Amino acid sequence: MSKKLRIGALASGGGTNLQAIIDRCADGSLDAEIAIVISNNPDAGALKRAEKAGIAVRCIDHRGYNSRESFDQAVVDVLREAGVELVALAGFMRLITPVFLDAFEGRVINIHPALLPAFPGLHVQRKAIEYGAKFSGCTVHFVDNGVDTGPIIIQAVVPILDDDTEESLAARILEQEHRIYPRAIQLFAEGRLKVVDRRVIIDPPLEQPMAALANPPVEPAA
Ligand code: GAR
Repeated sequence: MSKKLRIGALASGGGTNLQAIIDRCADGSLDAEIAIVISNNPDAGALKRAEKAGIAVRCIDHRGYNSRESFDQAVVDVLREAGVELVALAGFMRLITPVFLDAFEGRVINIHPALLPAFPGLHVQRKAIEYGAKFSGCTVHFVDNGVDTGPIIIQAVVPILDDDTEESLAARILEQEHRIYPRAIQLFAEGRLKVVDRRVIIDPPLEQPMAALANPPVEPAA
């Protein structure tokens, strides 16, 4: 049996993306194991989900550190101690510094609930609705020094409907997040992600056709 990729997951909130990764590791569709879950928030549901799955957890409260860098160093130390090979930010609501990125160069990925480069930052479901976009979605990307600017690994698209609220759109997007995040990690585990300039190329490529979408649909319903 090949050695499993050791993931360190960082989460601040409810942890449904973490749960999707836990579930895909458990059912064998993701050739990885979560070595540790770290949260900056003692009340994060993600910590409870990890504990329930028998995964090691650490709470590192950022309020106990006087700089972003010293907090990041503490997180890096724990990730290293756990033998982590890939860091997956899963609803981690802290900006990370070069201290972190230098320690795990090319090995930090994030999921964002919009189709980057549109709507980086926070409250992006609301911003997409207010803008009047007809599609939004989610993006898994490598993390670089910018805010939600790193090379894009995978995206999924969802329609924005006329009666959408921030909550209904967030739920539709979240469903897709749970599909694409484990997929991105599996491609990383297989060593198939090659970053060329800022494009992420799948090598060897996936031989699957892609369809175009329109919203509202161009062909009226029969
Ligand atoms: C997800 O929608 C994730 O994309 C977003 O937070 C949510 C976490 O949900 N992340 C960001 O906005 C990062 N800037 P979860 O805790 O249920 O996985």
